Amino acid sequence: MPSWSHLLSSIAISYLFLQGSASSVKGKPSTKGAAKKSGKRDGTVKYEVWGSDQSNSVPGITSPGTKGGFVWIWNSTQVDTQIDGDGDAVPMTCTPTQANGPCNILDVFPQGLVDSATGLTLAELPGFGRLHSIIQDPFGKYTAASLFVPGGGYVGIIDTNTKQAIGLFRVTGFTFEGQTTSARSVHMCIWSADGKALLVSNLNGKAIERIDITRNNQNVITDLQFNKAATMGLGRNMAVAEEASVFSGPNAFGVNLIGSVVGSYEDADLGDVTPNGVCKENGCGTAPDGEAGGRPNNLPICPITSSNGLVYSTLAGGGLIILDSSTTPMAIVGEYGNRVVYGAGCGGVQKNNQVFLNAGVAASGAGATQSMFAVVSFDDTQYTVSRPQNTPMPVRVFQDAGNTMTGGNIEGGIVANESGQLPGLTTRRDSHGMTVAGDYIHAVDRIQNVIESFHVDTYERTTYDLESLTGTNGRTGAASKCFQRSVLDDADLILNDPAPDLLETSPDGEYLMVAFRGPVPVSVEHGGQGSCPGVGIVQVLEDGKSGKLLDVLRSTNTVDTHVPGDIPGGIAYKGAERSDIHGAIVVAK
Ligand SMILES: *[C@@H]1O[C@H](CO)[C@@H](O)[C@H](O)[C@H]1NC(C)=O
Ligand SMILES: *[C@@H]1O[C@H](CO)[C@@H](O)[C@H](O)[C@H]1NC(C)=O
Repeated sequence: MPSWSHLLSSIAISYLFLQGSASSVKGKPSTKGAAKKSGKRDGTVKYEVWGSDQSNSVPGITSPGTKGGFVWIWNSTQVDTQIDGDGDAVPMTCTPTQANGPCNILDVFPQGLVDSATGLTLAELPGFGRLHSIIQDPFGKYTAASLFVPGGGYVGIIDTNTKQAIGLFRVTGFTFEGQTTSARSVHMCIWSADGKALLVSNLNGKAIERIDITRNNQNVITDLQFNKAATMGLGRNMAVAEEASVFSGPNAFGVNLIGSVVGSYEDADLGDVTPNGVCKENGCGTAPDGEAGGRPNNLPICPITSSNGLVYSTLAGGGLIILDSSTTPMAIVGEYGNRVVYGAGCGGVQKNNQVFLNAGVAASGAGATQSMFAVVSFDDTQYTVSRPQNTPMPVRVFQDAGNTMTGGNIEGGIVANESGQLPGLTTRRDSHGMTVAGDYIHAVDRIQNVIESFHVDTYERTTYDLESLTGTNGRTGAASKCFQRSVLDDADLILNDPAPDLLETSPDGEYLMVAFRGPVPVSVEHGGQGSCPGVGIVQVLEDGKSGKLLDVLRSTNTVDTHVPGDIPGGIAYKGAERSDIHGAIVVAK
């Protein structure tokens, strides 16, 4: 996901290539070719795969994804063992008292932590749940966990070596025009390329907020400051209803959390208009809407960071705001309408000077008949000064011919695609997570169970699937391991349905680790149903051009006993599996 990590991993990959016959160099990985034939590696490059499971981690909760969540961490020794067929990978622990994982996020962030705003403990506060994503910093030293329950708004920071929590914040609650109840939630947090800031997508609060990070010369974090003055509001007529706060008290190992809240909202940019004098969000009353469709609904989806310190904030209703994250408050340096950048994108990745973004299928039930796979590329060097609207235009890398007229797309004339989400039957598309492998970007299709790769210079497109053993036969050939790893307690569930979501490339470039959704998807129910929840291990083939699914690191959760509602376009699953992995990262050790 995060752009910088792919910059770093592409640098790492070129470095390995420069080593030439790497297998002869002591301590270096074996030749890529040898690894590719067997699907095995020699295990020299160590890493951990982290999956974020958004299901509830405690029993007795009646709503999906509202309390807790599990972190699944498998080290590469265990992953290699599983790939070799010598037993399933065992997840690692995050507490001094448990031998193995998965890690309950309610243990990592103990429920006795105290909130600076209310004086209440985490146990007494609402909305600490739905572990939507965990994203690593540029050094692989820390991760940021986003808890996405609307009304919650928590972001926690975890040390990747010790698995200890080091900080926990709650973002700002805002009100908007004609609305008196405070809204906030954290959809996604991404670190700046220099590791000195954490950019937070406060989705329900319609704001991008910033946590400033101080490190020592070993890149160890020594302070965390939620900076209220840095906030960029993206809604209309916004007002602060509940100030951001920080939690204090001991983590699971008895070590006190760090962090504070600084600055003033007086200095933040909560106004209605952009530097070009148009509404940030359409209909602001005091200025005209932006050109090319403007921005109808500015729930910020993902804050994609770039090597030049920019934040590409994708928006639910489409359009794009590009921020300079180095100023206080953060400043708008680029703005686009939703005919240029369609809605609900949350794949974003940088390669060299290009930042690639996609558009997918909207969250709420509104997306149930939508079909969207679009990818655009921005030149990251173009925003050293604030630019006019829709300037410069991005390159359109790919637009599926069957895209519905949603999220700003006015081409093609297709109003709805009613084909549901069942594999083999659905014709809908849903682009989502993106990563880089070699000279290719890879974008998943959550509904079609395929990954599209695009060459970063020629944009040549290659499609491979996650349903067949070879990645080339779809549902007609021998099945991929998702079939054998599928949930079996409901005969109606369609097996071999990976439902790939966010993903990241392993540090040696050999694998893509891909979040696979579960039979009871907590979010995007109309597109996210899958049969083999966990993290898919996709072997990279042809120097990054294609791939195939080797196996699945399976997750499971039968602690969560909520009764699922309707799953639009899917199967009304009646079994006990609730695991639903939404994000996967690979942390180099
Ligand atoms: C990998 O994880 C397993 C299971 O938790 C653990 O026993 C082992 O020590 C770990 N190995 C490394 C190198 O961290
Ligand atoms: C649904 O989307 C697919 C893929 O883009 C397309 O081929 C198909 O024609 C669409 N169906 C309808 C009814 O629009």
